[in-house]
Amino acid sequence: MEYSVQIITVSDRCFAGEREDFSGPALAACLEQEGYRLLPPVLVPDEQPQIEAALLAACAADAALVLTTGGTGFAPRDLTPEATLAVCERPVPGIPEAMRAASLAITPRAMLSRAAAGIRGRTLIVNLPGSPRAALENLAPVLPALAHGLKMLRAEGPQDCAAPQPPEA
Ligand code: MTE
Repeated sequence: MEYSVQIITVSDRCFAGEREDFSGPALAACLEQEGYRLLPPVLVPDEQPQIEAALLAACAADAALVLTTGGTGFAPRDLTPEATLAVCERPVPGIPEAMRAASLAITPRAMLSRAAAGIRGRTLIVNLPGSPRAALENLAPVLPALAHGLKMLRAEGPQDCAAPQPPEA
């Protein structure tokens, strides 16, 4: 199954044209290689209403997966997790838990990411940090499990993980 993915870069500097967005394209290359269908990338400043609007538009476009990059730290304008949780109906804490657990083996600063994840309708939203390296380091440990989650979310596979299933390939 080819799932659609919307990548949203959240950055005041990139939005103002003061810095090139390397994180969005790096994530796009990774997701394309994994067989995801890319929706046109979106770039927004660190403004909660604009982040929420971009997330809602991606859900309305029926993106299976939304990945945000940036705005998860402690800076006063880092509000991506707040925007994400405001539009989500069901939180998915396990994904950021797994990202931080894996990233802590790389850098103690991993604990400074406040990234969140959640579900709105048929869309899974996952926050990633802003630097290309950190975004990819956070995505890598959770990417293999996402397809199974999206299959359940979009009611395209077994809905009950407790039911007897064939062994994983
Ligand atoms: N995770 C990994 N794997 N690698 C990193 O370099 N940087 C951390 C953290 N997570 C980092 C990481 C730092 S320094 C910060 S401040 C937070 O992500 C938040 O980043 P953001 O504000 O760019 O979203």
